[in-house]
Amino acid sequence: MKKKLLNWYDLNKKDMPWRDNQDPYRIWVSEVMLQQTQVSTVIPYYKRWVQKFPNIKDLAEADIDDILKLWEGLGYYRRAHNLKSASEIVVSELNGLIPGNAEFKNLPGVGDYIYAAVLSIAFNKPIPVIDGNVKRVFSRFYEQDFTNSTEIKKLQEKLLKLICQERPGCFNQALMDLGREVCKPQNPKCQDCPILEKCKAYINKTVELYPHKTKKKKTPFFDVVVGYIENDEENFIITKRPNDKMLGGLWELPGGKKEKRESLKNALMRELKEELNIEVSIHAKLGMIEHSYSHMKIKLHAYKCKIEKGEIEIREAQGLKWIQLKDIKQYSFPTANHKLFNQISQN
Ligand code: ADE
Repeated sequence: MKKKLLNWYDLNKKDMPWRDNQDPYRIWVSEVMLQQTQVSTVIPYYKRWVQKFPNIKDLAEADIDDILKLWEGLGYYRRAHNLKSASEIVVSELNGLIPGNAEFKNLPGVGDYIYAAVLSIAFNKPIPVIDGNVKRVFSRFYEQDFTNSTEIKKLQEKLLKLICQERPGCFNQALMDLGREVCKPQNPKCQDCPILEKCKAYINKTVELYPHKTKKKKTPFFDVVVGYIENDEENFIITKRPNDKMLGGLWELPGGKKEKRESLKNALMRELKEELNIEVSIHAKLGMIEHSYSHMKIKLHAYKCKIEKGEIEIREAQGLKWIQLKDIKQYSFPTANHKLFNQISQN
């Protein structure tokens, strides 16, 4: 099985820019980016990253705002904060050397997946990677679900016996490639699979049934309303989100979630009073966009506002700036904010 898999990988291996060397720093960066994001999306981000921060010292010395600007649009921004914190620890406490052993797991953001991926690919350690693709491949191969932690532990034990000791990184990457390109969730290409002969689901024609679908929780929905608060010089306010919150360290138009039975305008007035201690008059509606996050969907509404009363006092935000639309390139904003800016600039 491992021979067939590795032969298949050697012939069909996808060209990816992090596959041309075994530099632990580059492998780590690529795996962090790939953890929640598709390969095609990651490639341009990865290329820009290694150009700007070619080694771990460059990252440790970099400004978090520059890092977030580079990460802008990739999502799950906590990943960038963790990489930055981890790089500082590696440089200040570990002589700049990324540990190729259990010590690696103590670093911020290094969970089971990153640990297994980096140690196997960069350090040739026989540690199996278990991601969504690998789970699907083996769910079909064994006609079993690997969903809860006991089942995943069982899969890990099976993989520890199967993993190629000489080329563990290639073994892991072969499985991830196989899951993504061949053993796909829909319309799997079984005829292209190197291990179909032993695949129970293939033999029993149950491939489409595995893995069994779990009932998805309904994603919550929120209306979020923000102010385009303009002064007489046509500058408007942006505020910087706290680092420990979702979208931490990114800039946004100030505002917040509408509560049940509250109007959009009242919600905006309440939020601006709470967050910035200002009272505003609300004018034209400038835009509305919809956006999906992994755990919620929002409608984001924007209104033009003028400050009527109060001195600005920053409550939760890390910072505040008055800027113009032409300046937005200098700051990192959540994708939802960019969608709004596109509408506002067309108005
Ligand atoms: N998905 C995440 N990391 C990967 C890798 N190194 N190779 C293929 N697919 C991946």
